[in-house]
Amino acid sequence: MEQSIESYIKNLVRDVIGQSLGELQLQSDRQTYVIANWKMNKNLNETAEFFQKINSSQDVSVVICPPAQLLYPAHLLIKQSGKPIGLGGQNVHWADKGAYTGESSGSMLRDVGCEYVIIGHSERRQYSYEDDELVNKKVLHAIKSELTPIICIGETLGQKNALQTEQVLVKQLEGALKDIDSSHFILAYEPVWAIGTGQSATAELAQQIHAYIRSILKKIIGEKADGISILYGGSANEHNAADFSAMPDIDGVLVGGASLNAQSFDGIINVFAKGEQNS
Ligand code: PGA
Repeated sequence: MEQSIESYIKNLVRDVIGQSLGELQLQSDRQTYVIANWKMNKNLNETAEFFQKINSSQDVSVVICPPAQLLYPAHLLIKQSGKPIGLGGQNVHWADKGAYTGESSGSMLRDVGCEYVIIGHSERRQYSYEDDELVNKKVLHAIKSELTPIICIGETLGQKNALQTEQVLVKQLEGALKDIDSSHFILAYEPVWAIGTGQSATAELAQQIHAYIRSILKKIIGEKADGISILYGGSANEHNAADFSAMPDIDGVLVGGASLNAQSFDGIINVFAKGEQNS
C-alpha cells in the first residue's frame, strides 16, 4: 500500500513537472515570420491580384507590409480572403498626432488594420536620415500604440569591410531599444550590402551574426532575448530560403524583391512552414 502511494506520488510529480516543463518549452519556442516589404511598389489592381494568388500557412506568421495608401484596401482584401495574414506599415511617426505633414501615427495604422510596423529600415536611415534616436522614439510609440515593431539593423559594405559589423549592430540595438520595457518586438538583421543586390549573406554568416545579436540582446533585456524572433533580410528568395530556415537563430525572413511575386513569396512561406513542422 505504502509503495503504491509512493509510486502514485512519484508519477504525480513526474506528470506535473513534465507538464510544466512542456509548457516552458512551448513558451521558449520562437514565432517564425515570413514578412513582405513591398517598399514603393504595386497599385490597387496588383494588390488585389496578389491577395487572390497568395496562399498562407498556419505554421508561420505571414505579414504583408504594403505602401501606406494600400494598407486599408489590403486589410479588406485579407479579411475577404479569410487567410491568416497579418498587415504591417512600412513607417510610423513618433507623435500621437499633430502638424506633421505626410506622416501617420500608430493609432492611424491600427485603425486601418495594421498589427505590425517596420522601423529603422536602412532605406529610411539612408534617404530620410533616420538615426538611432529617431528609431527609438518610433519604437516606443509603436509599442504604446500596440503595434509590433519590426526593427531593422545592419551594417553597410564599408562598415563590413572595415570589420565594424559588431560595433555597428551593438550601437543600433542599444539605440533602438533604449528605455524599452516590452519584449513585443521583432528584429530583422538586414546587411545593407545584401539588400536588393541579389547577393544575400550566406546562411552560415547570418546564423553567426544572429547568435551574436541574441547575445547582445540578452545583455539588454535578459533571458527574454531567447523569445525574440530575429529575421534575416537581404536578397532572401525561394531558392535560398531553405538554407536560412535550417539555422537555429534565424526565425524567418523579411523579403523585399521576392515578395512582389505571389508565387515566389508562396515558395518562401512553404519552406518556412515545412521547417516548422520538422523542428
Ligand atoms: P530585398 O529587400 O529582399 O529586395 O533585398 C529586403 C528589405 O529591404 O527588407
